[in-house]
Amino acid sequence: MSIVAKTGDPKAGRAKMDWAFAYMPVLSSIQKRFKEEKPLEGLKISLSIHLEAKTANLATVLRDGGAEVCVTGSNPLSTQDDIVAALHADGFEVYAVHGVDDKTYMDHIRKTLHIKPHIIVDDGGDLLSLLHDEAKEDAINVIGGCEETTTGVLRMIARDKAGMLNFPMMAVNDARCKHLFDNRYGTGQSVWDSIMRNTNLLIAGCHVVVAGYGWCGRGVAMRAASLGAKVIVCEVDPVKALEASMDGYDVMSMHDAAPLGDIFVTVTGCNDVIRREHMERMKSGALLTNAGHFDVEVNVKDLKALAVDVVDARPNVKAYVMSDGRRLNLIGEGRLVNLAAADGHPVEIMDLSFAVQALGVEYIAKHHKKLDNKVYNIPDAIDDEVAKIKLESLGLGYDTLSEEQKAYLAGWEA
Ligand code: NAI
Repeated sequence: MSIVAKTGDPKAGRAKMDWAFAYMPVLSSIQKRFKEEKPLEGLKISLSIHLEAKTANLATVLRDGGAEVCVTGSNPLSTQDDIVAALHADGFEVYAVHGVDDKTYMDHIRKTLHIKPHIIVDDGGDLLSLLHDEAKEDAINVIGGCEETTTGVLRMIARDKAGMLNFPMMAVNDARCKHLFDNRYGTGQSVWDSIMRNTNLLIAGCHVVVAGYGWCGRGVAMRAASLGAKVIVCEVDPVKALEASMDGYDVMSMHDAAPLGDIFVTVTGCNDVIRREHMERMKSGALLTNAGHFDVEVNVKDLKALAVDVVDARPNVKAYVMSDGRRLNLIGEGRLVNLAAADGHPVEIMDLSFAVQALGVEYIAKHHKKLDNKVYNIPDAIDDEVAKIKLESLGLGYDTLSEEQKAYLAGWEA
């Protein structure tokens, strides 16, 4: 049994999956091995990640490894109905419909747990929360899980510190082959892809305000600058603020940036980054977007409270009209802009991230008996394997250390 939008066209979804898979050499290579070795035979996996073509290919590879995979999304706006339909047509149990309200979205996530999973693949921590709080009875078989994003990792680390983590979790986000590429180059490109396709506006010459100069923020700022924007960075970490300054950007508080910005991108993982006091100071026509995991970074309640009218300005863009006539434009309801109003990261980037996911799942399957109820980093060997396959697919060589060099680097005698 699945829950799929009637309007989802499975053929269109399949075409998108095939298009993406042709540019996913690392996941393809893992698929080949998984088909032969079946390392996940007999395991049930509940998977909740932004449900578009690349994710569907991850689900397929996990099934090729021998697992039964039950699929849902990780944000109601990022689910693509044609992909859901394609997965359903391919025999997957899948619960996801684009644009449902928050309650229905959580119901869909909950439904993926009825299989009593052995492993969860989570993005933002919703599956993990359910299994620890209201659906504990569905956690009886769980041997571990993998978490995709920074926000989810922070939450499970908090649970771990409080001694409240009931099974081992792998911090996929913190693998080098994930955050160095996905958070930086993936978010960097896909945020601007989404803003440009949804607004048809020029970036060159604009003042772009980036809130948060972490892995994602660095990418968003870098790509804005390369499009010709004048970039302003807002940070709460003084070291990161200094780094942004030395990278050549203006650095100031959101209070000071608010009246200057043409386009705002929040990507902090924190709530209320842009709130009433900032909205009151913004220019008419300012564009507000969020790329952080949850829709809490731009305070949409404040925006609604300040507005005397709301206009559907373009698909995915609402203009909030202030009492003084200013219009503040919000893309994708303040949900992560690159997924809620576009196709997410470039395929080649998600090839790396989902390769880490697939190998993380295999690691849990093989080693769960030795793991405690803690957060684990992805082993370096997995990062190295993913990077090596990717380099080979690009035809790029790299050097290796000699035994003498290894000894030199490991010692102090020389
Ligand atoms: P990070 O931890 O590397 O960086 C976050 C930065 O925000 C830090 O430097 C922190 O000091 C700063 N910050 C925190 N609160 C702030 C505030 N109130 N004002 C200004 N700066 C503040 O995290 P990363 O990896 O950059 O992720 C950021 C968010 O983006 C997370 O929610 C993560 O889950 C999400 N994410 C979104 C993706 C997408 O496709 N849109 C992809 C990957 C991550």
